[in-house]
Amino acid sequence: MRMTYADEEIETVGQPNGTPVRWWRRPWIVPLAFLIVVFGTFSLPPYLSLDPSRSRVPAPSDFPLHYPLLVLHVICGSIALGCVVFQIWPWFRNHHRTAHRRIGRTYVLAGVLPGGLAGLVLAATTPFGPVIKVSSVMMALLWLGITLTGFVMARRGRFVEHRRWMIRSFTLTCSIILNRFVAVAVFLVLQPQQNTTFAGNETWFVQVTAGITGWLSWTVALLLAEWWLERRPYPADRDTPRLVSVSAVANLKQQSAATKAQPGGTGRYYSRLCKQGVGVRVPLAPPCDVSGHR
Ligand code: HEM
Repeated sequence: MRMTYADEEIETVGQPNGTPVRWWRRPWIVPLAFLIVVFGTFSLPPYLSLDPSRSRVPAPSDFPLHYPLLVLHVICGSIALGCVVFQIWPWFRNHHRTAHRRIGRTYVLAGVLPGGLAGLVLAATTPFGPVIKVSSVMMALLWLGITLTGFVMARRGRFVEHRRWMIRSFTLTCSIILNRFVAVAVFLVLQPQQNTTFAGNETWFVQVTAGITGWLSWTVALLLAEWWLERRPYPADRDTPRLVSVSAVANLKQQSAATKAQPGGTGRYYSRLCKQGVGVRVPLAPPCDVSGHR
């Protein structure tokens, strides 16, 4: 089937592997949406009130733009989080391609880009010490870099790579929720040592707790995403047919016909592609130049 996706003409190859998986059989969608709503309910109100005294981050006295940037960061971060559920949900992607494209642009242009730039400045001026400063600067740069790479891949029609980069981007976005759980765990472990390891020094205690929390949250989340991507190469989703560019399919059909014409030829290039479409893990080797496949 031919269709237009991100302004590119693409073709679906192969059949879905078995019965399509309905949205209610994706058990992670509901908890993810629930976590995002709970996070928003607790994290946003102090900043949406535009009352600096309710901020949980003390503003550096020599940086008056800190609070406006924090509010901008929280609003854009929330836009990014709100978009994540729809973008990462295979059923929604497959049934609402135009909405997927629009929400994707909102995620990048109204969420990650302004939220990440504001986050970068906030990170460089954090009052919570040098360890969390380095962690947050790294995270902001990765969030921006990874998301823009995913965006560019979609614009170029390299959808397999687009998917991989966006899974990493969504992981970083959602790691802000993991951060809150890790913070509680790190606090509970270190708090009894406040008067021993930290010699009663509260600043030291806060900076170490914030630093460990910051580094642990996003590195562990990103490592898990990499493990998942390597363990289940595309197309892992049983209801997601393989998407390749039309020129790549034409190229493969040509190669297939050429090999069939040879004595003993099997037309293996195209059949390999179809196997990919039904979820069989056969790596496509050169000269099968399927758009975006690693
Ligand atoms: C993924 C990249 C992100 C980076 C690098 C980042 C960085 C930061 C930084 C540096 C601060 C100020 C705290 C400090 O000085 O240490 C902050 C605060 C905050 N960020 Fe982010 N952030 C990111 C993503 C998000 C997302 C997706 C949200 C979702 C809404 C979010 C919500 C918040 C909130 C609510 C605060 C205020 C702190 C609080 O009330 O607990 N951030 N962020």
